Amino acid sequence: MTFTITTPLYYVNDKPHLGSVYTTIICDSIARYKRLLGEKVIFITGVDEHGLKIQRTASEKKISPQSHCDEVSYSFIENWKKWEISFDKFIRTSSKHHSKIVNEFYQKVIKSDDIYMGIQKGWYCVGCEEFKDNPDNSPLAQCPIHKKNLEWRDEENLFFRLSKYQKQIEEIINKEDFIEPKERKNEIINFVSKGLKDFSISRTNLDWGIKVPDHNSHTFYVWFDALLGYISAISMEESKNTLEDSIVMGWPVNIHIIGKDILRFHAIYWPAMLLSAGISPPKKVFGHGFLTREGQKMGKSLGNILDPDILLTKYGSEAVRWYLLKDIALGNDGDFQNKRFVDIINNDLANTIGNLLNRSSSMSRKWFNNKTPNQEDKNNSKIKDYANKTIDKYLAFFEKYKIDLASNEILKFAIFVNLYLNDNQPWTLIKDDKNIQDVKFIIYNVLESCRIIGLLLQPILPNLSCNILIQLGQFNNDNKSWKEKLNWGLLPLNYELPEPKPIISKLDYD
Ligand code: MSP
Repeated sequence: MTFTITTPLYYVNDKPHLGSVYTTIICDSIARYKRLLGEKVIFITGVDEHGLKIQRTASEKKISPQSHCDEVSYSFIENWKKWEISFDKFIRTSSKHHSKIVNEFYQKVIKSDDIYMGIQKGWYCVGCEEFKDNPDNSPLAQCPIHKKNLEWRDEENLFFRLSKYQKQIEEIINKEDFIEPKERKNEIINFVSKGLKDFSISRTNLDWGIKVPDHNSHTFYVWFDALLGYISAISMEESKNTLEDSIVMGWPVNIHIIGKDILRFHAIYWPAMLLSAGISPPKKVFGHGFLTREGQKMGKSLGNILDPDILLTKYGSEAVRWYLLKDIALGNDGDFQNKRFVDIINNDLANTIGNLLNRSSSMSRKWFNNKTPNQEDKNNSKIKDYANKTIDKYLAFFEKYKIDLASNEILKFAIFVNLYLNDNQPWTLIKDDKNIQDVKFIIYNVLESCRIIGLLLQPILPNLSCNILIQLGQFNNDNKSWKEKLNWGLLPLNYELPEPKPIISKLDYD
């Protein structure tokens, strides 16, 4: 079974900002988690390159849209590498392959008699690339997200018969697991209950897009085009690369992770388009919250973005990943605050987890000839039980995409083990030879806990977890599956420990 997961395809009006990094990190950690479980994963990301917004950005820069897209798309790929995003497919909607799939798909929708010519009138937000529902009638109607004036449109467009799918869409969105989180589901159900209206899928007076066959002056509406990127991504660079091949290789998507701003497109328009083409809808659409700064959505148009490059250089990707994944419940908004960020990284990663590992491996090296203790009795039942409960809860949370709660389980376990170490004070016990067995027992249990912590951190903090396991001599050292490695007691006895190095440096306040 393949597990297919997608980020949205990001507009290339600028290089990635922290909001796009956020969505991509979430998907990355889910993709890594599924791979650790042994599933075959297709992790799709990419860029949405067409439409008026991009055409205008290129024209402001006085370069062709294609050169602009080449430049920004390259910066997305480079950025995702820097953030160690483990994507399998990166789709560009200006690629020939994508355009071919859009055409194939369009023919299917025509066959279903779902396309007709009509007149589109209404207020348009170029930032959202979307007609807005009911702005007041003043010429200064503004987009609530972008705070920019809407533009009036009155033009001949091709329409998609969304209204025909009212019943089927109602069934889909009412399914138990289709839309998450639950609060967002109600918004969509409300919207659909007012009656679905057909929507236009082509634009005139816009060159930067895929030409609609038999309608020379029309290009496909950027959303109709971009959503199909999720399908074209699957067969890109494959020898078999038709629409059908994509479907066979990895459709339906298991989960689209997107921001709450684009839930309607994914939960309503997209499933209806797929139904029209006889293709299964995605299994789940998860609309996460916004990263805010002082309560405002972070975005280029609002000029309040935090530059991810600066965060990356200053703090490294693992610190940012931990903050975003552990501190924000997937679905809720999260405010980025510098002080809180520094506190969390120092407390959780440097002190609670990092010091635990360094202290215990230093003690073990010092007292046991640079090795793990040689100690037959490996089981402190309290710690072992806590570890097993942690693992069970962690797995259950991850299955539900509650990465924050899964991360907190790891942290709680690390706190518990720190307490155990402090309560038992092996540094005092070691002063008397008769306590040597007890000391061995304590150190073994703490080191073994660190191994479990390292394993559990793997999908969340790929580098830091690897450093933890390297320090225990336990990185990729056998062929056991990840789940098998989570069994208690696998840290070998009397085993050489490398010299400890801090796994993360403490951060300073600005
Ligand atoms: N191109 C469309 C998506 C097409 S998908 C077929 C688009 N692109 S976007 O670049 O404007 O935004 C995409 C996504 O970026 C949002 O849905 C969200 O996932 C992420 N974010 C953008 N700003 C964000 C925040 N401030 N906070 C969190 N995520 C945000 O819409």
